[in-house]
Amino acid sequence: MHKTIIEPFRIKVVEQIKMSTEEERKTYLEKASYNPFLLPSEEVIIDLLTDSGTSAMSANQWSGIMKGDESYAGASSWFRMESAVKDLTGYPYVLPTHQGRAAEHLLYGRIGGPGKVFIANTHFDTTRANIEYSGATAIDIPVEASRHPDWETHFKGNMDTDKLKALIAEHGAENIAAVILTVTNNSGGGQPVSMENAREVSKICSEHGILFILDACRIAENSWYIKHWEKGYELTSYREIAQEMFSLADGCVMSAKKDALVNMGGFLALKDLDLAIQCRTVLIITEGFATYGGLSGRDMEAIATGLEEVFDPDYLNYRIHSTAYLGKKLIEMGIPVIHPVGGHAVYIDAKAFYPHIPVEQYPGQALACELYLKGGIRCCEIGSVMFGKYDENGKLIPAAMELVRLAIPRRVYTQSHIDYVVETFEMLLKGREQVRGFRITYEPPFLRHFTAKFERV
Ligand code: F0G
Repeated sequence: MHKTIIEPFRIKVVEQIKMSTEEERKTYLEKASYNPFLLPSEEVIIDLLTDSGTSAMSANQWSGIMKGDESYAGASSWFRMESAVKDLTGYPYVLPTHQGRAAEHLLYGRIGGPGKVFIANTHFDTTRANIEYSGATAIDIPVEASRHPDWETHFKGNMDTDKLKALIAEHGAENIAAVILTVTNNSGGGQPVSMENAREVSKICSEHGILFILDACRIAENSWYIKHWEKGYELTSYREIAQEMFSLADGCVMSAKKDALVNMGGFLALKDLDLAIQCRTVLIITEGFATYGGLSGRDMEAIATGLEEVFDPDYLNYRIHSTAYLGKKLIEMGIPVIHPVGGHAVYIDAKAFYPHIPVEQYPGQALACELYLKGGIRCCEIGSVMFGKYDENGKLIPAAMELVRLAIPRRVYTQSHIDYVVETFEMLLKGREQVRGFRITYEPPFLRHFTAKFERV
């Protein structure tokens, strides 16, 4: 067997990358007030800001674009997407939305509200925001291992089921609007959830009559881990593994911008007709008619095809191994990386990388800026810039960890792009003691990381 796992595709269309020098990037970054979110994308060489909506579509998906039926009602593209979602999930009621958070808004807005509680392995930011916006409370109960970045434990995305039982006893089953498993657990380092854990959560929920929802945007990547790490699944296909997990829940929200390999789209799918009708009413008011939601016919064609392609064993094998390849190279160089490496991204512990930069000076922001300056690489701080709060004296309450996420777009970059990222880290290792932190000069009241401005300390 070969030791190199190659990209299982040929490149038919290319998008030119504009190269730049460190000198030029210094000016660009200053103009963007040291916030990579404010950089025009053409000033970026390798964009690892997100894996969401950044996939390269296949020739089959692009040819589906031409076949898109743009009828207002009953478009053939809708029936194709509906049947692809039903076949995969087994859920009879499918509601198309323009992206994942719109599906969250439909469901959690409907079942949430003051006094209601949601429990998840970890709520993604938009999930939490939709829940809290409805007046409800969101509680995260990941397993203990998820709090230890250096533990090599498998399935660190699991939910702590003892805590789940205790929370049900504390709040009363009637007040729990839903239990959510995010697979894989994005905010917890892209770590997978085991089938055993999903089965246990399902059992507890059905014993108490609580709605169990999957946030399924990376369920194909999650299935890879179950097949290779969990006993009893060696001979089960990735798609069958996903189908089994869907069968344990009462419904799912999905951002198709991840594992449906498209640039825009999402859906909500449910087992219960009454709940589906309630959500459909809001869908028609806020997104669009029931047979397109927020989508064009061509988007629905691409989603139907993407949901098939993503379970291709060669694709998934390449996907998980190529992300792990970057993680492994960085670990070999002594860069502090969250273990094990997740499916869609490599997470770096910036506090450990720059121990001399105090959290009040945002070590994650410093690392994100250095990666851009030295390599034109754009990535995302997931630390106190994103999650920090202030106490009554205006002192920073830092986030639990100061992470930087290198998210890998699907089918976009080759191994040599990734080797270039590794080389950039080699450059960063030299002289890292001289790197200084940042102070915030402007910030909006909510979601400050998107638009905040910084200056060097
Ligand atoms: N759930 C999870 C687990 C996500 O990672 C995201 C998006 C969403 C829901 C919302 O989906 O963007 O289509 O509205 N994650 C992106 C990211 C933004 O960069 O991780 P959306």
